[in-house]
Amino acid sequence: MAERGRFITLEGGEGVGKSTNLARVVEWLEARGLEVVQTREPGGTPRAEAIRTLLLDPAGDEPLDDDAELLLVFAARAQHLARVVRPALERGAWVVCDRFTDATFAYQGGGRGIPAPRIAELERFVQQGLEPDLTLLLDMPVEAAQRRVAARGGERDRFERERADFFTAVRDAYLARAAAAPRRIAVIDASRDLAAVGEQIRATLAERVAAWR
Ligand SMILES: Nc1ncnc2c1ncn2[C@@H]1O[C@H](COP(=O)(O)OP(=O)(O)OP(=O)(O)O)[C@@H](O)[C@H]1O
Ligand SMILES: [Mg+2]
Repeated sequence: MAERGRFITLEGGEGVGKSTNLARVVEWLEARGLEVVQTREPGGTPRAEAIRTLLLDPAGDEPLDDDAELLLVFAARAQHLARVVRPALERGAWVVCDRFTDATFAYQGGGRGIPAPRIAELERFVQQGLEPDLTLLLDMPVEAAQRRVAARGGERDRFERERADFFTAVRDAYLARAAAAPRRIAVIDASRDLAAVGEQIRATLAERVAAWR
């Protein structure tokens, strides 16, 4: 039987560069001959992507209840874990995921104010002990990240329309999680130029991957 693959997640607020750097993480791992599955949350399967659309859609005048939002996030996660993440890890592939449960603690916890123990309950129920082997937390000041989102253009989704204090709470929650789990979560200075961020990510990956072998 193949050795179980590793599970790597990228985290951070809007516009910090998760999607940009995810592609480089995948390239780096593939260059080492690993089978890599690139995915994202919420989403990663057709049904889970349908839940993502529901979560991000700013349209309509019916507000989404905070608990309903939390349960939708975990419903999408259950589907994604069952259909994509667990099968990949079991056959020995590495999974690189754009956002995972740290985002739930940051957005639904820090941002919306849902108590962390309630989120942790759902985490246990849905994940049954599965957690990332490594999380790259891309961190930078909120205002600078907002400028990147603005420069990128496009319609703002339901989260991107939140106020600055929401994103500050999200950032603080992410940093608190990193402080509580320093072995799993590596904080990357995402405010630097792309080359510098890429270099810090590459160095972190090289160090972790060597330690796993
Ligand atoms: N280090 C960087 N310096 C300058 N611009 C950057 C840097 N990293 C990413 N960008 C640019 O900032 C914008 C946001 O990057 P990206 O879409 O990767 O962020 P993200 O974290 O995936 O955002 P979201 O949370 O909205 O998905 C893009 O236009 C990207 O090209
Ligand atoms: Mg992105």
